[in-house]
Amino acid sequence: MIVLGIESSCDETAAALVDQDRRLHANLVLSQFEEHRPFGGVVPEIAARSHLEHLDGLIAEAMRQAGIDFSQLSGVAATCGPGLIGGLMVGAVTGKAIAAVHGLPFIAVNHLEGHALTARLTDDLPFPFLLLLVSGGHCQLLAVEGVGQYRRLGGTVDDAIGEAFDKTAKLLGLGYPGGPAVEATAKDGDPARFSLPRPMLGRPGCDFSFSGLKTAVRHIADSLDYPLSDEDKADLAAAFQRAVGEVLVDRCRHALDRFKELTGQDGPLVVAGGVAANQALRQSLEGLAAERSIRLVAPPPKLCTDNAAVIAWAGLERLRLGANDPLDTPARPRWPLDQLTPPAGNLEKTDP
Ligand code: KG4
Ligand code: ZN
Repeated sequence: MIVLGIESSCDETAAALVDQDRRLHANLVLSQFEEHRPFGGVVPEIAARSHLEHLDGLIAEAMRQAGIDFSQLSGVAATCGPGLIGGLMVGAVTGKAIAAVHGLPFIAVNHLEGHALTARLTDDLPFPFLLLLVSGGHCQLLAVEGVGQYRRLGGTVDDAIGEAFDKTAKLLGLGYPGGPAVEATAKDGDPARFSLPRPMLGRPGCDFSFSGLKTAVRHIADSLDYPLSDEDKADLAAAFQRAVGEVLVDRCRHALDRFKELTGQDGPLVVAGGVAANQALRQSLEGLAAERSIRLVAPPPKLCTDNAAVIAWAGLERLRLGANDPLDTPARPRWPLDQLTPPAGNLEKTDP
């Protein structure tokens, strides 16, 4: 089995080929950072036009690198949501057209399921596992029981975690994309100079909140001399990152207890999504894993941030359970993970 994956839900155009032995035959990502940078964030219309301009060429190059033609594919998987509707439509229509012309199954992949199943691509991880999904638009804890089987344990009540990183970066004048800039700036900072709140820390349950943290960063920045010195920026970024790390660990601790009640298992804990590329946060979670004597699976950063390999993989996991989505499957801007179901006819737990 070999599946072509297409990703175009936000500001990365991506095409990849992945087989059932978890081999990546091609994994191409074209970031649109330069196109959006003058605007300080993603402009949906620019994103959609850029996907349209580049996707065909990128798919052709991925096929060339893999050394196969379309007739050798087992299926075509494209992200159909959640995300920016214009970009989603470009990727979905392209995938459907390739599937229709070559008589292949089409798999409409939920972008979040791509992140959720990454640890099975990278580490061959069996179900169930606890997932901390941290991306630009989401921050959730889920018990992952099978393909299409997600039980939401908690999520953010306001901002997504990536959004908090991006807004903090903007506030500190670090530019776009914000997450990697905050991480790089924090490296030289003293996390103890400024005291920031730890929203939700110690509260029952598994929910998150980031808007108060962002506001606290703004208040501190406003109280300092303008423009902020490099030292101020580094110290604030470090304080922000430490606060986020402590909150994530606290929420995951609660979620691990809940996961144990649900499954009888102590772990493993998987972290995925763009923010999972952050080394400081990964270290905080490593600390928790050591404390609980459980395994932490954190995929390589390149497979945490948006890419099509994880979309191809999620498509392949669905395909081998019999998925073949109709060509009128819509692209959807909103598509919660816990609304997914396993492919029809496969309602059993999906792991051997
Ligand atoms: O998963 P992703 O690539 O796209 C979405 O599905 O949203 O996540 C993008 C988010 C952005 O908010 C970006 O700033 C953040 O992930 N991010 C990071 C890092 N790399 C990307 N946040 C913190 N540290 C990083 N190294
Ligand atoms: Zn993503």
